[in-house]
Amino acid sequence: MQIVILQDSAAVAEYGANLFIQQLQKKPASVLGLATGSTPVSLYQRLIAANRSGEVSFKQVTSFNLDEYLGLDGSHKQSYRYFMNSQLFDAIDIDKANTHVPPGDADDPIEACDRYEQQIVKAGGIDIQLLGIGRNGHIGFNEPSSGLMSRTRVKTLTKATIEDNARFFSSDEYQPHLSITMGIGTILDAKKVVLLATGENKADAIKASVEGALSAACPASALQLHRNVILVLDEAAASKLSDIEFYKHIELENQKLMQRLGKA
Ligand code: F6R
Repeated sequence: MQIVILQDSAAVAEYGANLFIQQLQKKPASVLGLATGSTPVSLYQRLIAANRSGEVSFKQVTSFNLDEYLGLDGSHKQSYRYFMNSQLFDAIDIDKANTHVPPGDADDPIEACDRYEQQIVKAGGIDIQLLGIGRNGHIGFNEPSSGLMSRTRVKTLTKATIEDNARFFSSDEYQPHLSITMGIGTILDAKKVVLLATGENKADAIKASVEGALSAACPASALQLHRNVILVLDEAAASKLSDIEFYKHIELENQKLMQRLGKA
């Protein structure tokens, strides 16, 4: 795992956005795996700015989101489709027909999960997958106890996740307790994975993911198996790692090596 520790959330968003910009400059027809939640919002703002300035185009991009609430259609303000349209897609030159969010309103959600997997394969697989992380170590809506090789499926949300996300719903609004989510195995199939985490409330989950055992108790620990994963953390999210100085040292050594090889 590559661990990058930066001063604050702004630096994390900037670093994460640059990874996506580099990917799109290298391969304009990239397949992007995208996430919702608070963490990626600043990264998306940076991508919007890069699109407006002509640094990158999304015209040839295909995207797949990690998850969606089951029971909400895309016009619902709390749906992840609505979030993606308003936070990113409406502001960039992407063809919305090429953007995919699991269908929360599917008549047959189980069949819809299989179709989602097939669509990812048909698009050529995900080149770069963006992730946030839940306080309990979830990635997508793969809650603790999720199978480490799981595929896109219907998942029940934990009480902790429902409470964490309650802030987005008004008191008279229905808050779903089921979701459709890419599985951990689906995420591990991405060619590159970029996980962003900011704030002290993520510090326990980051410690368990990086230094804990590979375990369904912490779904993000499955990323230890991935060959090309980068965790971009602010100081607060990294604060419970046992050897922060060592991770920073490794990163400096990596940068020196890349510079020497002309790949920085
Ligand atoms: C969202 C998602 C979730 C979030 C996680 C962190 O698509 O898959 O796993 O990444 O719940 O959410 P925030 O960023 O709001 O702390």
